[in-house]
Amino acid sequence: MTSETPVKSTSVPGSPSASAGTSPGPSEAEVVAPPTTTPTVDTSGPSGDEVVPPPTTNTSGPSEAEDVPPQTTNINVAEATLLEADEVEEQENVLSDGDSGVGSFQSSTASLQEELIKQRKEHGRSYKGYLEAKYLLPMDEQELERLELQNHLVWLTLDKRLYHSPVENFNRVLDVGCGTGQWTIEFADQYPGTEVIGVDLAPVQPNAIPPNLVFEVDDLEQPWTFSKKFDFIHTEAMVGALQDWPKYFRQSFEFLEPGGYLELHDVDFAVRCDDGTLPDDSAVVKWHEYMDQAADKMGFPLHIVLEFPKLMQEAGYTDISVEQIKWPMNTWPKDKKYKELGYFASENFRWGCESMSLALLTRGLGWSVDEVRVFMALLRKDFANRQLHGYWNFYVIHGRKPENVA
Ligand SMILES: C[S@@+](CC[C@H](N)C(=O)[O-])C[C@H]1O[C@@H](n2cnc3c(N)ncnc32)[C@H](O)[C@@H]1O
Repeated sequence: MTSETPVKSTSVPGSPSASAGTSPGPSEAEVVAPPTTTPTVDTSGPSGDEVVPPPTTNTSGPSEAEDVPPQTTNINVAEATLLEADEVEEQENVLSDGDSGVGSFQSSTASLQEELIKQRKEHGRSYKGYLEAKYLLPMDEQELERLELQNHLVWLTLDKRLYHSPVENFNRVLDVGCGTGQWTIEFADQYPGTEVIGVDLAPVQPNAIPPNLVFEVDDLEQPWTFSKKFDFIHTEAMVGALQDWPKYFRQSFEFLEPGGYLELHDVDFAVRCDDGTLPDDSAVVKWHEYMDQAADKMGFPLHIVLEFPKLMQEAGYTDISVEQIKWPMNTWPKDKKYKELGYFASENFRWGCESMSLALLTRGLGWSVDEVRVFMALLRKDFANRQLHGYWNFYVIHGRKPENVA
């Protein structure tokens, strides 16, 4: 039996929305206790033959769907593949093709107003960025290496392509929150005739870059000041980074040429499970609840990707396409592609959970750094446990600015 179900393509009025595998985090008013319990693990495991229904796509859109203005375009939603668990217990080496994009970049301070860059050291990690350094993840060597691994994971998720929009020729391209600049550099290399600009709060990009690429340091939540428009805007892993998404979609729309595309690659920060192997009191489920609670308090919406299609539509985008691809929590699926995605997703979260959690859980929920680190140890055990068939939904979403809008 195969786990594959054909990818369905449906034209629906609304956005993708799968039911969360976790219960919503406690309200802000509730007392936030750091974890003291060891997560329980359901060791019974799944029956390999069980047919698990795919997550339902809510074709009526998110709860605010009633407020959506009359639709001018279809939103095309491709649902994620149903995954069957592998019965093999030992970890396989899925890295055998030597294809990893993980490397190391030198840091850069090129063309910056250095006095505007703030650096904040906290709990042994370094947070840096333009003006207030408001981004909640450290941007130190450890985090930059994780971002490179995550870039590789996203590239694999996109079937080893840099984007999915139906475009082949580009004049000017913007990479929003370009991080290490890995995507930006690869794109500039592949399109040497295209003017490429990567913008980030933090000056962490390399000096040695293709001649058609410029890195700039700026806060893209402020009003954009680019002198010319773009015909493609790439936005990857910015959930948890940007706060005002409606404004983001309005600004990106304004700064696209007519007919230009915006493409987003991001994950819904909700762990899901279709076969009951992920207990509600497991560290991984609890982690998502705590992170939700802290992020809500600090104004960083972690599930906003589910609203992207509606927000894009409201900003004026048309021909909106939504692909949903599962990131398994580790190598639990049988299917080779998803096993590989699970391998890198597991590495990504095992390395990254501390970066993702430290500021949110200490500043947001008042945990001590030791409490965070103890909890991270429990969490990493869950990420490595192949009996737990958890996954996240990753989305590839693109939309076009109509030709007749200036
Ligand atoms: C998770 S990283 C993603 C980086 C890159 N897009 C990637 O996929 O590797 C988020 C990035 O957004 C940057 N960032 C956060 N807020 C920003 C803002 N307001 N303006 C520009 N960049 C921002 C951070 O400095 C960080 O490099």
